[in-house]
Amino acid sequence: MYYNFDCVSSTNDIALDERYHHGDVICSERQSAGRGQRGNIWSSGSGLNLTFSVVVEPESLHIREQFSLLRVAALSLVTTLAEYGIDSKIKWTNDIYVGDKKICGLLIENRIEEGFVRKSIIGIGLNINQVEFSTELPNPTSMRCERGCEFSRERVLRSVVDNLMRLLSMDSWEELAQPYHRSLYRLGEFHSYRNSKGELFTAKIVDVAPMGEITLELRDGSQRRYIFGEVNFVI
Ligand code: BTN
Repeated sequence: MYYNFDCVSSTNDIALDERYHHGDVICSERQSAGRGQRGNIWSSGSGLNLTFSVVVEPESLHIREQFSLLRVAALSLVTTLAEYGIDSKIKWTNDIYVGDKKICGLLIENRIEEGFVRKSIIGIGLNINQVEFSTELPNPTSMRCERGCEFSRERVLRSVVDNLMRLLSMDSWEELAQPYHRSLYRLGEFHSYRNSKGELFTAKIVDVAPMGEITLELRDGSQRRYIFGEVNFVI
């Protein structure tokens, strides 16, 4: 079921309510307290974009496998954007990029019980028809910026949700490993990164492990593994 609101604090908060179950989609024109990664605020032009959350209740997903949900969500966005002629990549861990610009952010929040993910809220902020952005945002883009025309938010929403539900119903999470890998932003090319000490270095992405750690290879061939928050892309 689709539930449409005019304004909520955050669609992720609403989706957590017991009344919503697997496959339910909570959409809002505006969010008064939209959240991004790492405690950031998510702001979105009212009536221009999509801010929504999809409720997922996996049958049996151990916490060690919870990164699979991020893979599924990210691939559903890449697939939908491709349907609209937009070539996008997954910027580890939670962003979708077109070239060097961010078109979509994901915020996945899981309720864990006895070591299993009982309920997952997949929060998606996708820029659709916005063309002017706050100068505080480093590198935003939208579908309209990329293609030069307006899009039906309703149709894009249906496509993302259909792709998401289809990918979730696949027999094995492992089937998504290769498509996810192929869609990684900056895969196999040398670029600049900054570690948690603020040190700048050049490396290339060689892998993202099933639990989400990224492996970077330095120019001397040595490899380092990082978890979310330990390394930042320099763009
Ligand atoms: C990020 O890029 O930091 C993640 C942004 C996630 C934004 C979406 S909008 C719908 C859902 N509700 C929220 O409060 N956040 C997510």
